[in-house]
This record gives sequence, structure tokens and C-alpha cells, in this order.
Amino acid sequence: MRQKIIIDCDPGHDDAVAIILAARTSQLLGITTVDGNASLAHVTRNALAITELLEADIPVHSGAAKPLAGESRHAQHVHGETGLGGARLPLPAREPASEDAVEYLLAASHEHADCHLVAIGPLTNVALALQRDPTFAHRLAGISIMGGSTSVGNVTRAAEFNVWADPEAADVVFSSGAHLQMCGLNLTHQLRTDDSHVAELRQMSSVAASFVADLFEFMHERMADLSGSRTFPLHDPCAVLAVTAPHLLEFEDRAVAVELRGTLTRGMTVVDERVTRRRDPANVAVAYRIDAGAALRHIMDVLAE
Ligand code: RIB
Ligand code: CA
Repeated sequence: MRQKIIIDCDPGHDDAVAIILAARTSQLLGITTVDGNASLAHVTRNALAITELLEADIPVHSGAAKPLAGESRHAQHVHGETGLGGARLPLPAREPASEDAVEYLLAASHEHADCHLVAIGPLTNVALALQRDPTFAHRLAGISIMGGSTSVGNVTRAAEFNVWADPEAADVVFSSGAHLQMCGLNLTHQLRTDDSHVAELRQMSSVAASFVADLFEFMHERMADLSGSRTFPLHDPCAVLAVTAPHLLEFEDRAVAVELRGTLTRGMTVVDERVTRRRDPANVAVAYRIDAGAALRHIMDVLAE
């Protein structure tokens, strides 16, 4: 049975793969966009262009143009100025269905009782929806988050980009009481593409495969420059798989809180890993392991369709 999903995103190369995966393996009800990898205008244009590439009539609602506190923080050094560097996508013909992502999220949660929210960018839209209507947390079947980490950061030693870009929003979400799944960097770094996946995609005939091959080629170059490794961690698709193929991941219930004040640790997801009965009560199902071989095979098969 296909799960009902709404994706909140900031496309973004891995967001694009997550959207394609969700569109082809779930009932993707809608997409909301948030300032993150690039400006709201760029990521919204990218989301529209991806739905047109898929020839999928999926509404795109644009949302927050900056975090709850402070100014926008983008990741052009990773994803390029537009957020989808290396992509050969025509400008979209369609406009966003609305510019009120929060209103759409709340309305959709009333219309679809069993809807999963897959949040793969900064959590600004999700936090604003929870602040406008706290009962939103309990109407959703769950919130599957790509964000945080039980170990290393990527923007700082301690913080992962999506949480770092809007820690106040992440704190609202992690404190909301919603059913939360967290795919952090400790997990997503296990799911990496390499040049063999580009070669396989280039052998496929689909437009989506060619588009994703361009994305992977761009990211392998960027990752080689940034980290010395020509591999690309598929962060955002992990949060989709947590809903559509949970058998591929292993979760542990943990208490997770977001650091808002630390000089070195602001934006860190602080996970209670103590092996003791005194451990704080769990509020998140944290993913620790993924069957990377099976997950990559599944993703490549979906891209071949
Ligand atoms: O840290 C990885 C996350 O930041 C991913 O969602 C990627 O798209 C960027 O937004
Ligand atoms: Ca993202």
C-alpha cells in the first residue's frame, strides 16, 4: 500500500532524488519549499522544474524565506548558486500553487488522516505550522526528518546543515510530541553514490535517469574538492525510505534535543546514548543502520523506470 507523503524540501541535489523516489513509490500529495540550500526563489523554481520533468501533477507551495531567528544561511559551496548546479533543466512553466506552505501543510493534515511529512531541509515551515496549530503534531502519521547527527556534523564539527540553518525551528519540532524519525549524518553517510552509478544511469533511457546522472556527476566533483572522496551521500532519500521502505533501516528510540546556545555546538542534535536506566525519555526514533546495497539497488531501479 503506498504511503501518503508530503515533502518539505530545499532542492538541492539529494532533495531532487528524494522527490523522484517519493513520486514513484508513494502517494506524493504535495511539495512545500523552504529557504535552505539556496534561496526560496531558487529552491521553489527547482521543485517546480523537477515535477515538470516527472510530468507529475504535484502541487508545490512555497514557504519560509528565512529561519525563525537570524538570517538565511545557504549551501552554494555544495549545491551551487541555483541549488541544482550541473542540472540541465528548463525553467518551469508552472507557478507555485500558493506561497503559504504552512496553510497547505495544516489543511492537508486535516484532509489526509494518515499522511507522513518528510522534512529534508531546514525545519522552518514545519515549526511555523506547529506554532500556528500544535495539534498538527498529532494529526500526522509522523515526521521523517533528514537532519542532525548522532556523531559528526558537516557545517561545523557538531552541527548538520538542516538543523544548523534553523536551530530554533528544529527545537520546536523535536519538542512537539509528534512521532519523529531522524535520519542524521551518522546514517546518511552510509548511503553513497560513486561514478559507477553515473555510468549505470547513462545506460538508461529515461529523462529522469539522465537528469540524476548530471546531478551525481556535479556532486562527485564537488565532494572530491570538499572531502577528497568522489562519492555523494544520499542524505534526503534516506528520510523517504524511512517511510516507504523502513525494513531497510534500523532505528533506536532516543531522547534528542537541539543545542541553541553553545558557542561550538549551536545546532547540534544532542542524543542521550547513556547505557543506564537514568536515560531521558525517548522522543525520536533515530536511524543507526541502513542496508546500503539494497537501498541503492532500489533507488537505481526506481530511476530506471
Ligand atoms: O546536511 C545534509 C542536508 O543539507 C540535506 O538535506 C541537503 O539537501 C542539505 O539540505
Ligand atoms: Ca535538503
